[in-house]
Amino acid sequence: MRLSDRVKQITPSATLAIDTKAKQLAGEGLDVVNFSVGEPDFDTPQHIKDAAIVAIQAGFTKYTPAAGIAELREAICKKLKDDNGLDYKPNQIVVSAGAKHSLYNAYQALCNLGDEVIVQAPYWVSYTEIVKLAGAVPVIVETTARGGFKMTPAAIEAKLTPRTRVINLNSPSNPTGVVYSADELRAIAELAVKHDLYVVADEIYEKLLYDGVTHTSVASFGPEIKARTVVINGMSKAYAMTGWRMGYTASEPDLAKVMADLQGHMTSNPNSITQKASVAALLGPQEPLREMVKEFGRRRDYMVKRLEALPGFDLVIPQGAFYVFPSVKGWIGRTVGGRKIASSDDLAGLILDEVQVALVPGTGFGAPDCVRFSYSTSMDRIKTGCDRIERLLKGLW
Ligand SMILES: Cc1ncc(COP(=O)(O)O)c(C=O)c1O
Repeated sequence: MRLSDRVKQITPSATLAIDTKAKQLAGEGLDVVNFSVGEPDFDTPQHIKDAAIVAIQAGFTKYTPAAGIAELREAICKKLKDDNGLDYKPNQIVVSAGAKHSLYNAYQALCNLGDEVIVQAPYWVSYTEIVKLAGAVPVIVETTARGGFKMTPAAIEAKLTPRTRVINLNSPSNPTGVVYSADELRAIAELAVKHDLYVVADEIYEKLLYDGVTHTSVASFGPEIKARTVVINGMSKAYAMTGWRMGYTASEPDLAKVMADLQGHMTSNPNSITQKASVAALLGPQEPLREMVKEFGRRRDYMVKRLEALPGFDLVIPQGAFYVFPSVKGWIGRTVGGRKIASSDDLAGLILDEVQVALVPGTGFGAPDCVRFSYSTSMDRIKTGCDRIERLLKGLW
């Protein structure tokens, strides 16, 4: 089949691949503990569902403006003001079918063929693919566990060329759970302004924070950086609304207009009912979110303790999102039970085959020495999964 060069360069999602295999084993009757999931295991809060039901019954089921209804764009402006200290007008907000769609719009709008985008590794699997689909080139800044999985301005500066157009930022981060401090972000903001670069700031995990750390939006360091930032956020992670598909951008009005025009030819508006539900999510009670974060915090503490005790595992304590991303370098190069462990893929394969626990190998995140554990599953399952891995690995070490 003759396919476009554009689609031929896409790498299939590593997280979906492991999830498919885990589901296949479960379908064969095996009891699989799935630590590969990238979505809250909590249900969408009832008042959000109720708003959607009201919208359906009221016949709110037609096209809306491509960039979203005024009511939702106003609610997003209020959120950005209250939570992030950012002043935006509704004409600066574009709502889309998930933050992933928002990222796609942003890179399509910002990049020309051959432009370069700074992306830190470990990275969320879709950044590099979305950048490539915009005809741009992801330029990887490697970060290490010792450096807390954070990019420094010096490391970014070393990768800049005349083609650099955007710095992609993600804090709190998937897959590492790392949260940049306000000072670290300010330094990156200053660098972006100095070199006249855009920042695409994916803040989708901003509400999932532990240990009392706080989130700062990189756009909040003054008008110069705000004008160069596209803030990306959405409903999926904070409100357990992954299936509803709702994300948004906040940017300069000209850029927002272009993204809305692009979307107008691609998907038109995101789902009208989801838009009403999202208004309820943003303006309604935040108690369910606080309860969810409390429970995620408990699970994180437990999982970190268990993983720290495993032989050959080395971890940076995550302070956000719902992932732990240990290095398993201690296992790489060993032969265990007749199987050569040449990469984290092999270790994840061994663990899935031997004790039916699904992890995502770090290869797809640009970190082949690591594996990603999600604690978005019940405490009971976390205990079972950790017990199984401990039994297996302690026996093989
Ligand atoms: C870092 C990051 N950004 C964006 C997304 C996409 O979220 P959405 O469901 O809003 O498309 C995800 C989902 O896993 C993510 O981990």
